[in-house]
Amino acid sequence: MKALVVYDTFFGNTEEIARAVAAELGTEAVKVDSAGPNSLAGLDLLVVGSPTRGFSASPNTKAFLKGLAPGSLQGVKVAAFDTRITIEDSKSWLLNIMMKLFGWAAPRIAKRLTRSGGTSAAAPEGFAVLDSKGPLKPGEVERAKAWARRLAAS
Ligand SMILES: Cc1cc2nc3c(=O)[nH]c(=O)nc-3n(C[C@H](O)[C@H](O)[C@H](O)COP(=O)(O)O)c2cc1C
Repeated sequence: MKALVVYDTFFGNTEEIARAVAAELGTEAVKVDSAGPNSLAGLDLLVVGSPTRGFSASPNTKAFLKGLAPGSLQGVKVAAFDTRITIEDSKSWLLNIMMKLFGWAAPRIAKRLTRSGGTSAAAPEGFAVLDSKGPLKPGEVERAKAWARRLAAS
């Protein structure tokens, strides 16, 4: 199976998850600004991960998704993840309300991937950071590895 993990990161947390997922899949993790159309050729599985910024994906992740031609992921299994602050860990009631209203990056990424022709391999997943610059919540790397193993088996 030819798989690729494409990710963005500002503080390293999403990169850590991306590398753990890629290692489980036996492939590499490529930063989104170096993932050109050629890197998608012949893929069986494409995983895209982004930090949640303003309830959505990072600007570079959005640009990458916009660059996917319609139908370009036909026959490719796809999955999306984000890193995020969870409602459980948020200390701000206002942010809590906004997160409930506007959500996180992964579902939006997943929608773009399937709109480009990809077939969903798993529900979009979020991995928790404890504060806006991290660190990841304990256990999240292990949870990411388990998620990757489910992707590989899909
Ligand atoms: C400007 C900014 C906006 C953010 N917006 C959100 C948000 O809307 N929802 C959320 O859950 N986390 C938000 N966060 C926290 C990020 O999700 C967190 O920085 C990210 O998971 C860290 O990943 P990285 O280390 O790969 O950059 C925001 C952080 C920053 C700095």
